[in-house]
Amino acid sequence: MCEDIGMRPRILTGDTPTGRLHLGHWVGSLENRVRLQDEYECFFLIANMHAFTTRAEKPEEIRRDTIEIVKDWLAVGMDPERSTFVLQTEVPAIAELTWLLAMLLPFNRVMRNPTLKEEIEAKQLGDHYSFGFPLYAVGQCADILAFRADLVPVGEDQLAHLEMCREVARRFDHLYCGVPTTTEDADYARAGGVFPVPQPKVGRIARLVGIDGVQKMSKSLGNAIFLSDEAGEIKKKTGKIFTGRQSATDPGDIKNALFQFVNAFIADPERRRELAELYTRGEVGDGTVKQEVSQAIDALVAPMRERRRAYDGPAGEARIVELLHAHAAKANAVAEDTLARAKAAMKLDFGARTLMFVP
Ligand code: TRP
Repeated sequence: MCEDIGMRPRILTGDTPTGRLHLGHWVGSLENRVRLQDEYECFFLIANMHAFTTRAEKPEEIRRDTIEIVKDWLAVGMDPERSTFVLQTEVPAIAELTWLLAMLLPFNRVMRNPTLKEEIEAKQLGDHYSFGFPLYAVGQCADILAFRADLVPVGEDQLAHLEMCREVARRFDHLYCGVPTTTEDADYARAGGVFPVPQPKVGRIARLVGIDGVQKMSKSLGNAIFLSDEAGEIKKKTGKIFTGRQSATDPGDIKNALFQFVNAFIADPERRRELAELYTRGEVGDGTVKQEVSQAIDALVAPMRERRRAYDGPAGEARIVELLHAHAAKANAVAEDTLARAKAAMKLDFGARTLMFVP
């Protein structure tokens, strides 16, 4: 425990590779990740195992999405020189820890998890989802705890998972490390727990609306502006943002979707205030505001497009595979250490790992 003192606190967060990342991801979590890379020791996880829980029949697609998500990360400025990229399936300690934690969570507690329920609904999984699907919620606890993370920057939709992770961390530390149940969450590691109780950190905009003006931005709903969209696409999509306004001289409602985009992406607070006043008085049309929003978004993502280009083509993909392999070694050093501590606490200490065989 003592060797942790003086080190930077840790972040673990990540994404399931399901397709390209969009502006909702940026304001919800990516922006925090980029910003916190010096202050925290960051681990960014590609949850490719989780992708198999609903798409087991599509391994090629999952592999492609895995590479694509790393491109998105590199594009936004998540920096492999400062942070560790963790490919979930290359870190066996996570899978082992999932088993150990699964014993500490009542089955019905997992199944009541509202994020799982929403996903079953949204993806129309009915009652024919795989056994692995609800297990991923336990796996997510293991992702976070394997790195003994202090902070987890996530979108609002992930808070239910975080709550379960916090519960299972406390329970483990009570049961196996003698941490008193009266301990404050911030003090679990100091009190001798293997796991700190991690804190979630939601982005500056918890839930970004999609261009349909109704639902949250989501790839599957077709209402997303992607971080990799070209300028022309951004212009076209912002032009479609639903406002419900009849004419340019009507008083506009600054609670509408368009103004959520103004507030999220126009950086200058003075200009935001000015636009809001003009809009409310019916002195500026939707078209003008949309154009400014479009330019602001393009200014944000243009450097991302540029950085992404460095990873185009088969050579780019090869570099990413190499990066993931190199980082897996760093990730395993931490996760193996955690697993050894957890197993020791559970009286499962029978000497060091004997896994030396590499085919
Ligand atoms: N469930 C998250 C998502 O789909 C991805 C994820 C997996 C994650 N493990 C995690 C996020 C651990 C934060 C921490 O977006």
